[in-house]
Amino acid sequence: MSEGYLEAAVEVAREAGAILRGEFDRPRQISYKGEVDIVTQADKRSEELIVRRLNELFPGHSIAAEEGTGSEKESDFRWHVDPLDGTTNFAHGYPCFCVSIALAKRDQLVAGVVHDPFHDELFAAELGKGATLNGRSIHVSTASTLATSLLCTGFPVQNRQLSPNLQFYGEFTMRSHGVRRDGSAALDLAYVAAGRFDGFWEFGLKKWDTAAGVLLIEEAGGKVSDFYGAPYTLGGPVILATNGLIHEEMRAAAVETRERVSLRTV
Ligand code: IPD
Ligand code: CA
Ligand code: CA
Repeated sequence: MSEGYLEAAVEVAREAGAILRGEFDRPRQISYKGEVDIVTQADKRSEELIVRRLNELFPGHSIAAEEGTGSEKESDFRWHVDPLDGTTNFAHGYPCFCVSIALAKRDQLVAGVVHDPFHDELFAAELGKGATLNGRSIHVSTASTLATSLLCTGFPVQNRQLSPNLQFYGEFTMRSHGVRRDGSAALDLAYVAAGRFDGFWEFGLKKWDTAAGVLLIEEAGGKVSDFYGAPYTLGGPVILATNGLIHEEMRAAAVETRERVSLRTV
């Protein structure tokens, strides 16, 4: 794509990442959006920068940003912005967090960036042009069985008691090399794209959590769907993202788990 969307997203993600990196070294001010749903000054400063810069660069585009400062426009283009994914980690000084920025044109993802400023890693993807990590091409892993796979998942910070995920967590732990819970869905998805994880699932993620990561995985040769094989739609109730090779096995295990524990709502 010649319009420079990816380049712009990379530039803005780096600027936001610098804000997060600086805030990470300072005493953190925490406030609560819910029981364990934290927001920090870093979330707000990062979003302020991203929204301001995207508005300067693309004044006609819509922006959907987690902390609510984006804006709706009459446009085919929509930016999905998570200014700090992994806020709980960040607030505790655990260095696993990122900025996630993606652009969709009429619901088709066209560019996505996940930037981890602590480890200086920038994952980028453009529709039809592959995925990169710090400029080098990346590809999903070659693990071909669930039993030999390393997986990742996450748990919601809202309505925790309603989440069915502990059942799935136990089941997939027994059937794989293990399940990590790193606390940053955007970074988890980028790690699937880079072949560090073989599969990821989570319930109830928002569009800004997954938009960039989904494009990264698809461009890195992986597969993304729901638990029933239907295409994943941004903001859908469950995401299953894998290297493609273990997708059917993981999907079947998820459906089996759901049946066994009678989780008719997922
Ligand atoms: C959260 C992280 C976490 C996931 C939660 C998200 P936030 O986003 O991605 O890994 O399990 O569901 O809400 O609040 O840190 O931007
Ligand atoms: Ca998030
Ligand atoms: Ca966030």
